[in-house]
Amino acid sequence: MFVQQAIAILDSGVGGLTVAKEVMRQLPREKIIYFGDTARAPYGPRTPEQVRLFTEQIVDYLLQYEPKMIVIACNTATAAALDHISEKVSVPVIGVIHPGARAAISATKTGHIGVIGTIGTINSGAYTLALKQLSPYVEVESQACPALVPLVEHGLFRSAESFQVVQDSLEGIQQSTIDCLILGCTHYPFLMDTIQQVMGPAVKLISSADETAREISTILYDKGKLSAGEELPIHQFFCTGDAEMFQSIATDWLGEQIKRTPVVWQVTKL
Ligand code: DGL
Repeated sequence: MFVQQAIAILDSGVGGLTVAKEVMRQLPREKIIYFGDTARAPYGPRTPEQVRLFTEQIVDYLLQYEPKMIVIACNTATAAALDHISEKVSVPVIGVIHPGARAAISATKTGHIGVIGTIGTINSGAYTLALKQLSPYVEVESQACPALVPLVEHGLFRSAESFQVVQDSLEGIQQSTIDCLILGCTHYPFLMDTIQQVMGPAVKLISSADETAREISTILYDKGKLSAGEELPIHQFFCTGDAEMFQSIATDWLGEQIKRTPVVWQVTKL
């Protein structure tokens, strides 16, 4: 029997669904195996060593499905573990920081770019490095927003209280003269409308999801690995924590993208 090789997408929780949704939209023939480590989210306040270990455990778990590529759809894990994982496995592995940086460089008019992310991502300096690697002319303002991931993981991204939390979290960066703001955590696009409202219309919000999906598309094309089958893929979603919460957020967020496709939900332990 022919088994379609999947694109494995991982995150600490539901954040990577923002990338998965874009992959489903841009590459609807591709099968996705998604892993959200919801029992151990958030990763943001953890040490890089711990995040590296968790990422390694998830990748080991996913390798049993023989994916054709691995997407670390978590900025915190990308900063802590991308190089390490890339050396370890033989399939292509990508993260979300370079795609996010590329999208921002292409969008900025003034070269003054803001980045918000978890404590781990901001402390790693990975975005500043990625942006400066692409252009020495950019000026980067960074800010950690640790209160935002719990809002999303608890399904409160549309709640009235989320506005106040977002406003308080963005207070510093709101004062700066950036013309675009990188949502340097894959959970943040869930709060896109609220963040836009707080930052105002002059600041363009950059999510790495589009650019990451484009990069996946390019890599699979170059390797002759794009799926060509006529049959719809069956996506698989794993989480390690509260299955009901995960499924409800995922169904809400992915909406149309999973209405036309069979989906399997599974809770697992690492
Ligand atoms: N979604 C993740 C990121 O992009 C991690 C958030 C967290 O677990 O703190 O960084």
